[in-house]
Amino acid sequence: MNEPLTPRTRVRQQPLNRPFRDRTVAEAEGVNPHVALHRTMSQVIPAETAEGFRGRWEEAFASPGPVTLEIGSGNGFYLSGMAAKHPEQRWLGLELRFKRVVLAARKLEAAGVDNARLVRFDAYNLARLFAPGDLAGVHINHPDPWAKDRQAHRRLISAPVLTQLAEFVRIGGELRLKTDFRPHVDALLALAAETGWAPVETSDDVLRDGAPWANDVCTNYQRKFNEKGLPVYAVWLRRA
Ligand SMILES: C[S@@+](CC[C@H](N)C(=O)[O-])C[C@H]1O[C@@H](n2cnc3c(N)ncnc32)[C@H](O)[C@@H]1O
Repeated sequence: MNEPLTPRTRVRQQPLNRPFRDRTVAEAEGVNPHVALHRTMSQVIPAETAEGFRGRWEEAFASPGPVTLEIGSGNGFYLSGMAAKHPEQRWLGLELRFKRVVLAARKLEAAGVDNARLVRFDAYNLARLFAPGDLAGVHINHPDPWAKDRQAHRRLISAPVLTQLAEFVRIGGELRLKTDFRPHVDALLALAAETGWAPVETSDDVLRDGAPWANDVCTNYQRKFNEKGLPVYAVWLRRA
């Protein structure tokens, strides 16, 4: 792994607890059929119900036990794959877009898994969903790059979000990142110590070298980068 780049300047950061369009507004507008649809699916926990599980997430699943969060679960390839590989664990997918929540819920149904749930929520509002120690781990796969300098403040891999995640993940729990965007790797490694995370292992090319962890599932975006022969990086951290 190359040396982390030192950020030239500290960028203004997206504020935590930013307002996001809730279901009432979107439903009232009637423009997105997936808003109503996602509420009918048994794999989806509506946002307002999900907030009620704060501090007792284990009760949201058929069998109690530690929960692993995937942020930005997209179409659900990874979530359904991990849930099928690990029926003894509980998996929670967080996704901002209603349509992707619906597609992911269909994936879970097709995979026949009952140990995964989805919530349509904004990852900048995690404190509304989780209390300290609620999570066994967090997996983040190909977060949006926001590649331009003027967009950098929108990046999820940031000190405020990492600090919050360290609060919600119990000691010894893990944070896994896979990304095609090298600055996310550099930022995560640069911010780890000050936000409560200790590096375990990294990979400069998951396709060539494999992921640093044993049980991996290829994501939808990862497959696209693999097909183009472009590297996918991985960083594995543990809650210090
Ligand atoms: C580039 S896609 C990657 C999808 C999937 N993880 C994969 O690897 O195939 C990023 C995903 O994160 C979601 N996302 C972006 N910002 C988010 C936020 N603030 N909260 C929750 N999900 C978000 C997007 O809607 C999108 O589905």
